[in-house]
Amino acid sequence: MAYSKTITTARLTLRKTQPSDAAALFAIHADPEVMRYFSEPPWTDRERAATKIAEDAAAFEKEEFFRFAIELTSTGEYLGNCTLFSVHRQNRRAEIGYVLGRQHWGKGYMQEALDALLEFAFIERDLNRLEADIDPLNKGSASALERQGFKQEGFLPERWIVGGLVSDSALYGLLRRDWQARRLQQA
Ligand SMILES: CC(C)(COP(=O)(O)OP(=O)(O)OC[C@H]1O[C@@H](n2cnc3c(N)ncnc32)[C@H](O)[C@@H]1OP(=O)(O)O)[C@@H](O)C(=O)NCCC(=O)NCCS
Repeated sequence: MAYSKTITTARLTLRKTQPSDAAALFAIHADPEVMRYFSEPPWTDRERAATKIAEDAAAFEKEEFFRFAIELTSTGEYLGNCTLFSVHRQNRRAEIGYVLGRQHWGKGYMQEALDALLEFAFIERDLNRLEADIDPLNKGSASALERQGFKQEGFLPERWIVGGLVSDSALYGLLRRDWQARRLQQA
């Protein structure tokens, strides 16, 4: 049977992406402010959203790549998504990525979603290590990682060229044992 997974938090429902997310997903990825530090330019083609949703849902069902839609439970509104990708079973590691529509920043939604994504990664998927590759200028993203206990482990100059603009990578990592120790401290 196709794999599926839904996680609920205080305010949010994290679930597999579905075709009805397409308009909201396109609006997020068409916004230059949201896409400023992404590894691709803002979207201009509405078809991209439907294609991506279909690909993501198929990969999710095969337990290869987990893009969770972040829905505000009280209204059903699609706020953004968070993703566990590049899952290496043998090495028990993966990368994370995330995005929220601009109007949803500054409300703690991503913190709440990442709390749940990390628990899914470390407990349910039994991973040992998570990684993230961000533009060092992306302060909002660095804060989201640091709030979860990620530490910057590396710096790779001029790793990306997006729309002719060259940018660096800050590589972040988090080990399960450090995540667990932090959780115990916070409990
Ligand atoms: C990265 C991104 C998701 C972070 O969004 P964010 O709103 O800063 O993160 P959160 O949703 O966790 O909200 C945290 C903020 O809400 C505030 N907040 C308000 N109410 C809160 C609540 N109830 N609980 C927790 N925090 C709350 C926090 O104080 C914090 O503000 P601060 O950063 O000024 O201290 C967002 O900037 C984004 O989508 N960027 C574009 C996409 C992107 O670059 N992704 C990364 C690519 S690698």
